[in-house]
Amino acid sequence: MVGLPARGKSTLATKIKEDLQHDSVKVRIFNNGDLRRKMVPNNTSIAEFYNPDNQEAVSIRERIAGINLEKAKRFIKTGGAVAILDATNASRERRNNIQTILNDHPLLFIECVNYDEEILNANILRKIEAPEFNYLPYDEALSSFKKRIAYYDRIYTPLKDELNFIRIDSLHKTVLKEEIRNGVPYYDQIRDFLVTDTIKHLYLIRHGETFYNLENRIGGDSDLTENGMRQARELAEFFSNKEIPLIFTSLKKRTIQTAEFIKAMQKKCTIIPLAEFNEIDSGVCENMSYGEIREKYPFIYSDRKKDKYNYEYPEGEAYATMKERIGRGINKVLYLSNSSGNIMIIGHRAANRMILSHFLFRREEDVPYIYIPQDKFYYISVTQNRKFFELRKYK
Ligand code: F6P
Repeated sequence: MVGLPARGKSTLATKIKEDLQHDSVKVRIFNNGDLRRKMVPNNTSIAEFYNPDNQEAVSIRERIAGINLEKAKRFIKTGGAVAILDATNASRERRNNIQTILNDHPLLFIECVNYDEEILNANILRKIEAPEFNYLPYDEALSSFKKRIAYYDRIYTPLKDELNFIRIDSLHKTVLKEEIRNGVPYYDQIRDFLVTDTIKHLYLIRHGETFYNLENRIGGDSDLTENGMRQARELAEFFSNKEIPLIFTSLKKRTIQTAEFIKAMQKKCTIIPLAEFNEIDSGVCENMSYGEIREKYPFIYSDRKKDKYNYEYPEGEAYATMKERIGRGINKVLYLSNSSGNIMIIGHRAANRMILSHFLFRREEDVPYIYIPQDKFYYISVTQNRKFFELRKYK
């Protein structure tokens, strides 16, 4: 793996490992960070440890990289099929060293880049929650990690002349460049894993009942009713025996309020509101009931009925125009959740329809009618080998 810190290398490494293991391939990850934390337990969170001018620290880090290289070599010699060196491997020098030591095996460099500042920052915030930053105050941990990245940036040379490499935008899962000059076993499989959205356990929930729901009003930013809070409590109860580390919501109160109940019954849980998951913007019809729209704007009512997927509310959105932002939101979720166990999204009727249709093919004309109830949720599991959907009751 190659790339600056917080670019999604470990997530991709784990994904490759799990997917290959599914095909009974013997894979192991050799992670320099894990080894560093074991070998040098004190203070490797301080930025100076990564300063390329700090000779002592450089030699410690090189020793760690060397140990992992030897371990990887031994693993392959003793029956292992794929060894993944999970580290920044940012400098040309380090990569030359890898090529020299692992000269008897085919090598593939996988470079992860991410140019999205917002996601990068969110990922950095997650990184500094790790135990190694525990003894630093929050602000110091943050600046220390950012400084660490800047130090790596000083020695970072993107892949260019390496024999076999692929550069991947790890947020958008797109291949930016690839050069395969000699045979790399499993390459076709690995390339496919890298660009495929996989999600182990996604719980897609619609917020609980709101005051607007009672009046059939659309959009707005209404609160949950008593009944909505009861639904949220029941959801919280249902999920209390599962670990839900992250809950993604929209910026609207109704989704965040629903998430708060669930968070309250979890040991460690962070709510991440994303504008991408906001409900369809109904423009001039915001806050109106369907009845009021029919009366005041009969043409809107009838035009939308004719082609609900493509119909764009005046000054608002269509399902079709939500597609791009919903896709962006899903990319953020996949990136930030490190493809870890359980992921929860609490959204809205139209937003959840679009999220569902991202994973499950539906004809466009059917998408705006997908059933999105408030007393059930969708369980989704999508891997390379299987797609699974189920509408489940929580009560
Ligand atoms: O009624 C709730 C709601 O989420 C509205 O805010 C939104 O405009 C609507 O559902 C979307 O559903 P439809 O596209 O079927 O009108």
